[in-house]
Amino acid sequence: MKIPLDRQSSTPLYLQLRDHVARFIHSGALQPEERLPSIRTLSQSTGVNKLTVIEGYSVLEADGLIHARQGAGYFVNPAAIPAPKLESTFAPEQRVIIPDQRGSSFFELYTTSVQALQHEDIIDFSCGFPHPPEDLQRVSRRAVAQVAQALFNYGLPEGQLTLRKQIAQMLVQQGLGVSPDDLIVTNGSKQGLSLATHYYVQPGDWVIVESPTFHGALAILESLGARVIGIPMAAEGMNLELLEQYLRSHRPKLIYTISTLHNPTGLTTSQAHRQQLLALAHEYECPILEDNAYEGLNFEPVPPPIKAIDQHDWVTYIGTFSKTLMPGLRVGYMVVTGKHYQPILERKLLQDLHVSTVSQAIVSEYLASGHYRRHLSRLRAKNLQGRNAMLQALERYFPEEVEWTVPRGGLFLWVHLPAGLPIQAICREALAQNVLVANGAAFFLDQRGYPALRLTFLHPSEKIEQGIAVLGKLLKSYLAPGTRGQASRLKQEGILGFVAKTEGGTKLVG
Ligand SMILES: Cc1ncc(COP(=O)(O)O)c(C=O)c1O
Repeated sequence: MKIPLDRQSSTPLYLQLRDHVARFIHSGALQPEERLPSIRTLSQSTGVNKLTVIEGYSVLEADGLIHARQGAGYFVNPAAIPAPKLESTFAPEQRVIIPDQRGSSFFELYTTSVQALQHEDIIDFSCGFPHPPEDLQRVSRRAVAQVAQALFNYGLPEGQLTLRKQIAQMLVQQGLGVSPDDLIVTNGSKQGLSLATHYYVQPGDWVIVESPTFHGALAILESLGARVIGIPMAAEGMNLELLEQYLRSHRPKLIYTISTLHNPTGLTTSQAHRQQLLALAHEYECPILEDNAYEGLNFEPVPPPIKAIDQHDWVTYIGTFSKTLMPGLRVGYMVVTGKHYQPILERKLLQDLHVSTVSQAIVSEYLASGHYRRHLSRLRAKNLQGRNAMLQALERYFPEEVEWTVPRGGLFLWVHLPAGLPIQAICREALAQNVLVANGAAFFLDQRGYPALRLTFLHPSEKIEQGIAVLGKLLKSYLAPGTRGQASRLKQEGILGFVAKTEGGTKLVG
């Protein structure tokens, strides 16, 4: 247990210690009945004397968070951990968006987040980059040593057979039975997205996406010259009634959906929703592109992918190792069945011949090492702690009128803010206080849509609490009666004017 104490602070050391331990308990990092470090261990690791630790523990005991057992030490009280509220009140407006201009901000958001990685003092809630497993370096060295000869030659466009067999086995565990012959290994799932959209969609064709959705997909569709319809997400997933209306009226060529642990909302659709979506696709003869980039990161069981119930090759499925192993390896995959396989494979060959043989060998060796399952379960446990810490911090610090989703896994949750907030200005003020957030506008077509934030919970609990406290204070300052005028103050100071300019004429929310 790492407890950084600030000797310059006006808060006494025993109270700082109390606060840190309380935070571990509330976030779930310390479990009910878990033993706390002994007085001696904690005094050594923090460099304070034993009396300070005893004082800190006594206050925690008085607060009802821990109890002492004669001769055995201190333990977390079972009743001390308030479970975060797991119901969500998320119920956004159901408005279809058809943009009249182009305004994707994927490039800016992506590069800002990658650059933020260099600044350790920034709490980056904007993007979810997982930490690679510790043993990946060792496994990588072994992979390169073992297959060195084959590694330095050209490979097949569909990817190495061993890896495809391993991916097929992994997918069976998600309820998706596929043959290695239906798989194409791709440069991240981003390439799968690009290959599939270019195969199914011609410039000028209509395409359906969820609203909001992954901004990287919006950028691809925009560059392809597709005309895109954003069907609103409700708490259950894409609004199927509205979907049917637009399938009938616009005859789109593709439906893009992130059925499990959706980016950015974190929502997962039910089996019934998946069946209805597939039935609609079949009825209106519209292929589905199912993006399952967050597969394997669920804390609770999720239904099998839509592809698992697809009998007529309507669904193309994409997945990736970016969110579970290492994004820098750039290894993703697609499941393509029937007549669609060969043309997509040929496009893959034209783009880049094949995925780096070294990256494929590393992933393959990692899967073969048997460590992947253990790594995934550790990752899930860590992410669950992060999610709970974030839910608790949101309850504590955010204004009442704000709603958020409660994801069953993945890396993000989605915060729906009241109308009228100058969201860009809030993001800029948060960054001035070292908290980086993704403005929800990036995930809506044409950056229209309701005010929202996407927050990554891939951080230690203390950082989450610290960052959410900053955001909560900012939001409250804008929502307090009489302070809506702050927006006009910022306009006068030119801040909103600047934002409006950088957005190239898009409507500013707020
Ligand atoms: C929904 C979704 N699809 C695809 C990707 C692309 O990931 P990669 O190309 O690293 O596999 C991402 C990355 O954030 C994503 O969120």
